[in-house]
Amino acid sequence: MNKRIKALLLAAITSLSVVGCSSSKDNEAKVMRVAHNQGEEHPIHLALKEFEKIVEQKTNNEIDIQVYPNELLGGQREAVELTQTGAIDIAVGSISLLESFNKSYSVFNLPYLFDSKEHYHSVMNDDEIMNKIYESTRESGFVGLTWFDAGSRNMYTTDKPVMKPEDLKGKKIRVQQSQTNIRMMELLGGSATPMSFGEVYTALQQKVIDGAENNELALTNNKHGEVAKHYSYNQHAMIPDILIMNSKLLDSLSEEHRNIILDAVDEINKFEVDAWEDKVNEAVEQSKKMGVNFYYPDIEPFKEKVLPLHEEMTQDNEEIKTLYNKIQEKAPKESK
Ligand code: GCU
Repeated sequence: MNKRIKALLLAAITSLSVVGCSSSKDNEAKVMRVAHNQGEEHPIHLALKEFEKIVEQKTNNEIDIQVYPNELLGGQREAVELTQTGAIDIAVGSISLLESFNKSYSVFNLPYLFDSKEHYHSVMNDDEIMNKIYESTRESGFVGLTWFDAGSRNMYTTDKPVMKPEDLKGKKIRVQQSQTNIRMMELLGGSATPMSFGEVYTALQQKVIDGAENNELALTNNKHGEVAKHYSYNQHAMIPDILIMNSKLLDSLSEEHRNIILDAVDEINKFEVDAWEDKVNEAVEQSKKMGVNFYYPDIEPFKEKVLPLHEEMTQDNEEIKTLYNKIQEKAPKESK
């Protein structure tokens, strides 16, 4: 959607909500706008629709959840910033983006941080590790509520497959707007081109970039597979999405409403995580029909190039190092 139309839509929504909030009518539902950048078939959208159902039912419609998919309220960075100020109430932000709001999130952007899906999930489900991180942005205006699986990220390109890091030389590869992701791409030898998710399809089509890196759903839900036919499982990262909420709003809720919201986010975390694998399988099948080829390069040469980043990030920061070590300790013994 055109940026100007988006801005106008947002202005209209914001003024509507101001009218809503200033009303003294007790029976008027409290509207909560939820923004994300995925399409309506994506498991995150389905989970948020479930959130809408649960919260509205349990509050007898005292809370009205409105879900805006497809970057309707702006790209992910804008959505996070609007959640900081309270113009949007709830949003989904990739951990890649959240690192610019608190450094502790950057650890999760380290390539090859997790040894396996089990390791990744056990860290994300560890309240002792995650609650502190979710709270770390409270002063900036929002808190994390839960996480969504976003699978593993791999390289995909328009001309030929990436089978070794050298294949990235001279290639412009879109990365998320994150310093760690930019640095990772530099170490791999590619030319990092940060941009918001919604711009990637056109950039691929117009050859502004030669490829991108993401999970398989980007090929189908975002149609990147129409243009990029080579998807290489180098598995450089598992970067979850975080559901965030304006902290003042969360604190202002009655205990009953707050508990309904907090219970509902636990439910939709499970809903989304359970749905993920099937959605990936469907995306692979659909991509093959679109003519996408899947490749399985040796991941060791990729690892070798980027592992120095672990040392770079942890060396001068005790807090980051402690978090990093805690994450490493959670690796299942057999996957070490
Ligand atoms: C995934 C992730 C999104 C993110 C996107 C991106 O789809 O779930 O939160 O915005 O990647 O690469 O920008």
